[in-house]
Amino acid sequence: MSLFDRIHKQEGTNGEKKQLKKMPNQTEAENEEEQEPRLEQAPPMSRNPGQERHHELKRLLHKRILNEIKGEEDLDSIISNMESMVADIIKENEAFRGTVDGKRIVEEVINDLTGFGPINPLLLDDEVSEVMVNGPDRVYCERKGKLTLTDIKFRDDEHVLNVIDKIVSPLGRRIDESSPMVDARLPDGSRVNAIIPPLVLNGPTITIRKFAKDPFTISDLVRFGTLTNEMAVFLEACVKAKLNIFVSGGTGSGKTTTLNVLSNFIPHNERIITIEDAAELQLGQEHVISLEARPANIEGKGAITIRQLVKNSLRMRPDRIVIGEVRGAEALDMLQAMNTGHDGSLATGHSNSPRDMIARLETMVLLAGVELPVKAIREQISGALDLIIQQSRLSDGSRKIVSITEVQGMEGDIIVLQDIFTFERQGKDPDGRIKGNLVPTGVLPKFYEKLQTSGIHIPTDVFIEKRDRKE
Ligand SMILES: Nc1ncnc2c1ncn2[C@@H]1O[C@H](COP(=O)(O)OP(=O)(O)OP(=O)(O)O)[C@@H](O)[C@H]1O
Ligand SMILES: [Mg+2]
Repeated sequence: MSLFDRIHKQEGTNGEKKQLKKMPNQTEAENEEEQEPRLEQAPPMSRNPGQERHHELKRLLHKRILNEIKGEEDLDSIISNMESMVADIIKENEAFRGTVDGKRIVEEVINDLTGFGPINPLLLDDEVSEVMVNGPDRVYCERKGKLTLTDIKFRDDEHVLNVIDKIVSPLGRRIDESSPMVDARLPDGSRVNAIIPPLVLNGPTITIRKFAKDPFTISDLVRFGTLTNEMAVFLEACVKAKLNIFVSGGTGSGKTTTLNVLSNFIPHNERIITIEDAAELQLGQEHVISLEARPANIEGKGAITIRQLVKNSLRMRPDRIVIGEVRGAEALDMLQAMNTGHDGSLATGHSNSPRDMIARLETMVLLAGVELPVKAIREQISGALDLIIQQSRLSDGSRKIVSITEVQGMEGDIIVLQDIFTFERQGKDPDGRIKGNLVPTGVLPKFYEKLQTSGIHIPTDVFIEKRDRKE
């Protein structure tokens, strides 16, 4: 989108503004307005007089910028002149004097032009991990695990739509009535979902999961209290010993983050293939091939599914397969791969408990359209998986591993699950944070012998319940 179009878009799309688009160079109408701003012409919205003036000054600034564009775009010089443009407009209009914050207006217009509008400051703030726009008036963000309503507001629905358009159009996608939901990514890799009315009732809605510039490491997770140091060493041994591990948890519980941390334990001499819907994993090893599924294009063609990628990956001589999230028929191919020599594979899935995860995997296998008796499916699952790590987002916003469970095998028709460690809650600290630790259940895992192949010595007393561990 050209600079002109972008500035123009900030103006909205009513008749008067459409006309402006046809006249990129100055027009009489604009000149007239510049000299004689009329506050009553601002779009009728439920704003107080201060907001009306703010909006009107912004509109006049847009118009002045439009006049400044002469042929070649020169964003930098326009931006550097913006403060003096605002100062001029204020000088020319008594109503603005002392009643508007010119600096803020310049900031907002720069955000509209060079960034993603009002949410730009949140996107630039490294402390913010998620941004949620629920229509123009309600913008939430998550900081340190806590969700808060910000005082950021868009002008109207159109303004939100402009930002969505700015995100998706460089990717050759669009959002409109015929395709009212879209997944996209920001240039920095952040994951974006947008959905618009009539599918959503509160106005155009954007959800952004920000891409971590410095992905969390195992020591970060220990520091956050997601797991203990001892558990970290245990899980490192599990990955190095090539156990097949599944990270299970609810939405936003930190599954992908844990998967990323675990994947970084894979030795550097192994060939790793990662398969994801939207590439989020950031592995430190050199020998990594990252595959990414592709949604259908505007004509509904060309989709490549996770399942197709899993099948393809098996022809790429992987030592390890890491699947971002298993949520459909690919479960069958993953289990078959795990059962046929591709040990040490890692994946995540959406579920509230290890038992539930197993049930979901059964359903997913059925989705693959293969007629298998339930018992055979269960045998596939129990033969494939070694360990389920259950993760949860607790009420204080923290993400914790709440159980580490061994998949031990079958007893009759039932898959036997055995918790090795479970989270023991120990109340709250003075700041309201939930205290507690992963403690052993006292059961030595059946794969204990295999752990020795990791080269990391895990003493058996790690698995023995020690009451004196509690603070
Ligand atoms: N152990 C952790 N401690 C604190 N914050 C975390 C932890 N793990 C992840 N987060 C934060 O929580 C958010 C969600 O993390 P992540 O993407 O890993 O979750 P997820 O379960 O994969 O989510 P989804 O279900 O959407 O795929 C991110 O903003 C991330 O920075
Ligand atoms: Mg995830």
